[in-house]
Amino acid sequence: MPVLPHNPDPAFNLTRLSHVVLTSRDLDATRAFYETGLGLEVTGQDAERLYLRALEETSHHSLVFEKADAAPGVCRAVGCRVAQEADLDRAADHLAGLGRAADFVERPFQGRTLRFRDPAGVCVELCATMEQRDSRMQQFHLHRGGRLAFMDHVQINTHDVDATYAFYADLGFRLTEYTTGDGNDEMIAVWLKRKNNTQDLVYSRGPGPRLHHFAYHTPEIANVVHAADVMGALGLGQTMDRPLGRHGIGNAFFCYFRDPDGHRIEIFTSHYTVIDANQAPRRWEIGDTRRSQLWGFPAPRKWFAEATHFDGVDLTQPPPGPGPMTLEEYLARWS
Ligand SMILES: [Fe+2]
Repeated sequence: MPVLPHNPDPAFNLTRLSHVVLTSRDLDATRAFYETGLGLEVTGQDAERLYLRALEETSHHSLVFEKADAAPGVCRAVGCRVAQEADLDRAADHLAGLGRAADFVERPFQGRTLRFRDPAGVCVELCATMEQRDSRMQQFHLHRGGRLAFMDHVQINTHDVDATYAFYADLGFRLTEYTTGDGNDEMIAVWLKRKNNTQDLVYSRGPGPRLHHFAYHTPEIANVVHAADVMGALGLGQTMDRPLGRHGIGNAFFCYFRDPDGHRIEIFTSHYTVIDANQAPRRWEIGDTRRSQLWGFPAPRKWFAEATHFDGVDLTQPPPGPGPMTLEEYLARWS
């Protein structure tokens, strides 16, 4: 599939990723993992829900956990922000024109919220406003764990990268980096952005829809290391799903953890800035291990294979195709 032209005048103005809604079997255990371990701020908790956010965020939440008994945990929604209320009505009209069902739903602490399913089957909810509170950005005495600054992006597995890419390109998303097959234009993963860095939404080929991870930005490499130290000190070191490294794609210095319900979180230092309209996307081939790990050591098989299912959505298998090298395959070359 070719790189699609940027649509500078989409039907409505979607500005950024906003939040993720997940399930938890034990809200207190989830709270300990994210608040005591990684340093997120709890902005609300009752018997049914837990709300969290990061240091630079003034909105009420970027992460919501809803109590559920089923294991493993599932994802119930990926939230995005639009610029103004009128964009919600424009979005409803646009989705209706595409024959895609959408309905307005009530969400605590959010303004009007429009829910729909994207071509990958992901439940997306759009809102223009969310309750505002002072952030903890300059309450330095409260900075803990990974000193996480803001939710940056989600990565989602889908059976149909082409259709999903076309849908979001039409909504004004720009392609900043992408992965193809070796020596061909088969689109295997797309990094799509609305805000001024490399990504808000990432879709990669795999059984889907599944939420591979959500990611929080932190400004310093030392913060990522400190988070790993804190998790180790708390006896949570085994929750590290992929150790520290440097992505070729996006230039992120990363570390991944799995929470008590199996949801994967990435904490990372910043991507680079992407603003100018004529900046060409970076292309990577699937066989290039620097794509996912610039230093050479690829991720373990489970990092590629395991992900959070979406609530009530059956998996669809992608067409067969090449996959990335795993750590197990990489190490086998040494023996
Ligand atoms: Fe990521």
